[in-house]
Amino acid sequence: MFNEDLAAHYLDTFASLSLPDNQSTTKDSGVIRWGMSLLEREAHTFFQEEMRSLGLDLSVDAAGNSIATLPGSDPDCGALACGSHLDSVYRAGRYDGIAGVIAAMLAARHVVESEERWRHPLSCVVFACEESARFSQACLGSRLATGLTSRSDLRRLHDAQGISAEEAMKECGLCPEEVDEQRWRTEDWEAFLELHIEQGPRLDEEGVQAGVVEVISGSTRLRITLEGIASHSGGTPMELRHDALAGAAEILRAAEDYARDAAHPGTRVTCGVIDVEPGGLTTIPGRCSMSIDIRDTSAESQRAAREAIEDAVATAAARRGLSATITPLSHVDPEELALGPRQALRNACRDLGVSFIDLPSGASHDAQIMARLCPTGMLFIPSLNGGVSHSPDELSRVSDLVTGARVLHAALRRLDHGA
Ligand code: GLV
Ligand code: MN
Ligand code: MN
Repeated sequence: MFNEDLAAHYLDTFASLSLPDNQSTTKDSGVIRWGMSLLEREAHTFFQEEMRSLGLDLSVDAAGNSIATLPGSDPDCGALACGSHLDSVYRAGRYDGIAGVIAAMLAARHVVESEERWRHPLSCVVFACEESARFSQACLGSRLATGLTSRSDLRRLHDAQGISAEEAMKECGLCPEEVDEQRWRTEDWEAFLELHIEQGPRLDEEGVQAGVVEVISGSTRLRITLEGIASHSGGTPMELRHDALAGAAEILRAAEDYARDAAHPGTRVTCGVIDVEPGGLTTIPGRCSMSIDIRDTSAESQRAAREAIEDAVATAAARRGLSATITPLSHVDPEELALGPRQALRNACRDLGVSFIDLPSGASHDAQIMARLCPTGMLFIPSLNGGVSHSPDELSRVSDLVTGARVLHAALRRLDHGA
């Protein structure tokens, strides 16, 4: 049933499956549960056991996506599915991805305990490795399921320790050699709905209980590497320097000015990783590598932002006598979500007296990938603390999560009835 105590228990259980953070001196340094790791598999196992105890059929595909299914009465129908992910970024909160998995678990429990008869199968899906924190590639599990990423890519993707995605998958008992044969078929899926925390402040600021997502932002991720000359910080005159970090600072400043310009509303640019070599207090940086993450709800604006950043790299490199390399890490276009699932979510909110607004998603989600396979919708619940996310300060109300789970169930039920 839609039980707040059970939702809170699930939140605690998933949060307890975390690596210790030996680098941090603060008490709450957040959750660390990398994609394609044994801890992520442990979280999937907990989900699987809960669903199995309710009588759902379990399967895990070669990519590590867990699928729990209640059969429907019509064998010709594809599944109505819901779910999200259980991996996390470094020093994450307790809700990103987890909220959507818990909502799916509560919805399935409600269907079982109420002895509802559904025409379509109901599938609760937990995608593997949604976060790009480990392999710089978002939505790895759903991309493998839909064929956007294939086995050969798994050898190319590496984490910071140099472990390839293929090796990581093997180490946690998955089957990278079978991912291409095990792609999901579009006819098996009728629709997919993902509940997620908003990861922004709007719902809380506007005092509404839910958000129906219209479009999911695209992302373009680049690594920019600048090579200059490492030299003595005291002995080298300013006009003779080739400082790679100063070049990176110039690029970041230009990127930020571009994204903050009123002419580019909705464009977001972030540098979240920067490495400087040799990294000495008294040595001019000879090499600097920086990440760039561009997000936009318009494919055209996303492309324009990338071009502006490429221009800024060329300008900074020329001015400072640096050599520059731009390595594309990943790219996904924005995804406008289908009208059917959006309307089902809106009507479900109305049925239950739940206040809602329509809004875009700033973050990436597996829903963006599932939209290639079947009509897909997303429901946001409010994020508190100013909407902070990818941080231990991430916070949502358990009552909002349970309300969202009710909406999710009601929307799927509407889709089951063709309404
Ligand atoms: C997913 O968390 C993203 O980075 O958007
Ligand atoms: Mn995330
Ligand atoms: Mn997420």
